[in-house]
Amino acid sequence: MELNEAIHGRRSVRLFLPDPIPRDTISKIVETARWAPSWGNTQPWEIVYADGEKAKQLGDLFVAEAESGKFPRPDINMPLDFTGDHKARYVGLGKALLTSMGIARDDKAARQQHWLNMYKFFGAPGVVYFTIDGGLNEPYSCLDIGSIGTTLCYLAFEQGLGTIFLAASMHYPDIVKRVLDIPATKKVVIGIAIGKPHPTAPASLFRSDREPVEKVLRFA
Ligand SMILES: Cc1cc2nc3c(=O)[nH]c(=O)nc-3n(C[C@H](O)[C@H](O)[C@H](O)COP(=O)(O)O)c2cc1C
Repeated sequence: MELNEAIHGRRSVRLFLPDPIPRDTISKIVETARWAPSWGNTQPWEIVYADGEKAKQLGDLFVAEAESGKFPRPDINMPLDFTGDHKARYVGLGKALLTSMGIARDDKAARQQHWLNMYKFFGAPGVVYFTIDGGLNEPYSCLDIGSIGTTLCYLAFEQGLGTIFLAASMHYPDIVKRVLDIPATKKVVIGIAIGKPHPTAPASLFRSDREPVEKVLRFA
């Protein structure tokens, strides 16, 4: 597959088929993804793949936590609100996505269900968790996780698999550490859900847009 095809073809998938992904496939994807660049070649990532019972357990515990009104307590600071252009794009994404899924703005029950589906990895059979050592330079390690995580998404796409970075997957990091046997000293940066995309559902096929190049690029 051409690199351009992968870059233009990848999208965040929000409905997966339950078919398990062979662990061998995950290993092969990670084997190549680990060639992603990192600051000073520190390769600060530690990667844990959760599937089967473990993934189900995580989803169930996240939903219980969210339904009981527990506020997210991520290891890595998360924006609670956006302003200006960022806010407009964030709100625009939400509106476009829910509209494509046929969810009306005032349909509170459907919106809540979408929110809970997110905690269950949108039905994905597995999730790739990235943790870093709390002692390392956190912001730079997070950049490096972005680097390997994005690489992994393209490699998965090349294998016909869908992915989505999920901030929701790290809202309750203590649960992730308990279920996946990750030491408390580690920081959970992000989970990327992975699986076969649903072939027809709008939540699986939805495409976001981008600002025009003239708006984001300036030659000094
Ligand atoms: C760090 C990060 C966290 C994200 N967390 C979520 C999330 O919790 N829920 C969700 O539906 N999408 C999440 N996304 C997906 C973004 O909404 C998506 O990447 C963006 O809208 C662009 O769309 P595309 O990936 O389809 O190109 C996240 C993406 C990133 C990079």
